[in-house]
Amino acid sequence: MAFLSARLARVKPSPTIAMTTRAAELAAEGRDIIALSAGEPDFDTPPHIREAGKAAIDAGQTRYTAVDGTASLKRAVAAKFARENGLDYDPSDVTVGSGGKQILYNALMATLDEGDEVIIPAPYWVSYPDMVVLAGGVPVTVPCPAAQGFRLTPEALEAAITPRTKWLILNSPSNPTGAGYDEAQMRALTDVLLRHPQVWVLSDDIYEHLVFDGFRFVTPAEVEPRLKDRVLTMNGVSKSYAMTGWRIGYGAGPKALIRAMATLQSQSTSNPCSISQQAAEAALTGPQDYIRDSRAVFQRRRDLVVTGLNACPGIDCPVPQGAFYVYPSIAALIGTTSVGGTRIDSDEAFANALLDEEGVAVVFGAAFGLSPHFRVSYATSDARLTEAVARIRRFCEGCN
Ligand SMILES: Cc1ncc(COP(=O)(O)O)c(C=O)c1O
Repeated sequence: MAFLSARLARVKPSPTIAMTTRAAELAAEGRDIIALSAGEPDFDTPPHIREAGKAAIDAGQTRYTAVDGTASLKRAVAAKFARENGLDYDPSDVTVGSGGKQILYNALMATLDEGDEVIIPAPYWVSYPDMVVLAGGVPVTVPCPAAQGFRLTPEALEAAITPRTKWLILNSPSNPTGAGYDEAQMRALTDVLLRHPQVWVLSDDIYEHLVFDGFRFVTPAEVEPRLKDRVLTMNGVSKSYAMTGWRIGYGAGPKALIRAMATLQSQSTSNPCSISQQAAEAALTGPQDYIRDSRAVFQRRRDLVVTGLNACPGIDCPVPQGAFYVYPSIAALIGTTSVGGTRIDSDEAFANALLDEEGVAVVFGAAFGLSPHFRVSYATSDARLTEAVARIRRFCEGCN
């Protein structure tokens, strides 16, 4: 009898974390490595939020809280949904977990039975398919190539739905492509979903505030109120307020689902960190300048990276609407050989050779379910980005 479960054997460790770890190992050996592989803002948490965390410790907010979040944080989350998304959720419709990741995990674990299908547009955030598998479900990935803006079309959605479909996972703006759905594109999808009452929507809105060029973020429950009783609207403070380490995410949806997720959390992690909850409340209710300021910085970096990558021979980099990623194609480099002698026969070979030969860490597209691409996270300084783009250009110029 195997000691490790068969279920775990089907799950892969996160390739983004693997790449970041390898980059850190090379840096520890003394090499000058530029890591464009991590998915977190490079800024510090804004001062008033840090102060709220310190004040929480001093005020003795150091004990267990209600399992899925304090009443006051749930009120702050409900107020955020009303203020920013026009969504009317009662605080009792809200659940808070240790990161958006736990909210997604809870939702899938609480609802999937063996063989239930979950539609995941590809490229996708690396954790979705593995979480579905862990919960006993079947990930149904739908290719969404660059030619369609990396977006799911209503026709492809319709074709992917079966009587076993339980969820559609939507992520706008997207990790890894930065693609966002505008209102018309979102409505085209919600129109399809209205015809399939067995399908619920898990809307991962974690990059909501990182949108550029005046792009207006929308979320499915707002666009189609008739769907609201089968939507879980998920969000968190990690990316919007540079709080990845604090581990606070939240979701809102129908009470029966929210209660089931809380039951699961009560038997796994219990409440998210009490101190972090106070800090997250300060983030949601305090001044919002950080959001505007960081958005301007990320838009400038996006432009720097897109322009720089499009000047590299063999790279084609679309302009994304949001998040802090670009997802360029290397189709024109497949079949070439790098200066260091690596045959570029896949995006994985490209990413490994780029790291070995130029010390730039990116994540290969196969990890996100759509090749031949690579993901660049531009959540690093302008100076490092400029240097990284120069190295990538030299690498590409050497491929023939
Ligand atoms: C698309 C997406 N969803 C959810 C998360 C989870 O964020 P957290 O658990 O830090 O809230 C991430 C983090 O990388 C992400 O990229």
